Amino acid sequence: MLSIVCAVLILIGHAPDVTCQTGANVKALKQKLFVTDAYDYKVRPTDNQSEPIGKKY
Ligand SMILES: *[C@@H]1O[C@H](CO)[C@@H](O)[C@H](O)[C@H]1NC(C)=O
Repeated sequence: MLSIVCAVLILIGHAPDVTCQTGANVKALKQKLFVTDAYDYKVRPTDNQSEPIGKKY
């Protein structure tokens, strides 16, 4: 019982550390990736960009 009370008190103490993502966070991430960093979605993780990656959908 004492350990449960201690665990609950520890969890309550860490409550301010818990955050979640919002729509504003997603917009900021998209802005950074696609505008600020100029991410090119055509670049694939392969050494030779001319070769197909072998995936079929
Ligand atoms: C990349 O792949 C293409 C098509 O298979 C090939 O013609 C070309 O020689 C390759 N380039 C290199 C640098 O391996």
